[in-house]
Amino acid sequence: FATAVRIRSVDVIAHRGFAAERPENTLEAVRYAASRADDIEVDVRRCGSGELVCVHDETLERLTDGAVTDRVGRLDWGTLQTVSIGSSDARVPRLAEVLEAVPPDVRLNIELKERGLAPDLLGLLEEFDGSVLVSSFDPTALWQVQSLTDGVALAYIFGDDPDRGLETAADLECAAVHPSAGLCHETNIVDRAHERGFAVNAWTVDSGLEAARLALSGVDGVFSDASLPAL
Ligand code: G3P
Ligand code: MG
Repeated sequence: FATAVRIRSVDVIAHRGFAAERPENTLEAVRYAASRADDIEVDVRRCGSGELVCVHDETLERLTDGAVTDRVGRLDWGTLQTVSIGSSDARVPRLAEVLEAVPPDVRLNIELKERGLAPDLLGLLEEFDGSVLVSSFDPTALWQVQSLTDGVALAYIFGDDPDRGLETAADLECAAVHPSAGLCHETNIVDRAHERGFAVNAWTVDSGLEAARLALSGVDGVFSDASLPAL
């Protein structure tokens, strides 16, 4: 019974909006995840006409029929809207549209895939009443946010070198660290992060079993591509 209670206390973070169940990083995914997750994660970069958009890769080739091969950063918003994501009618959304789609009781984790997004990001967040966590693998992208405000919670993402990860998160005054699940299994990163006051969210699990294992190790949240009804 104690184990079950502890497992239920772990946040399920919809990775790219539950990428295994809906086209990743789309409004369709965000709306799907809204009633099934505690948090929703989206990846953010800038398109060629300047808008912040939710796309993981530098190009759309993995998610489309390959007709458009330019980098997202060179494609204007109008062109992006001509491209279907996955086998659906879903399109690449602007971050502004995602902010409107996230319900107030679900936290949005915005992962910065590029530098130079902070001023526009903070402008969008001024109009947003919900809860946000901004994360990145790139300390500079996080530092650019931190240098403009202390009002946005940050998380540093890493997949190796726990010592460097914790020091970087401390330097950036992060609220959380996002280590890989493998790092959580193989090292004592969870306890060390908690000792230093960081929440710990682990990426990425695809089974309830692994989520439960991570829950038992004490993580606060798990990024999942699937909606994990067992949790
Ligand atoms: O933020 C956790 C996870 O999303 C990091 O990896 O490549 O899926 O963005 P990636
Ligand atoms: Mg991500």
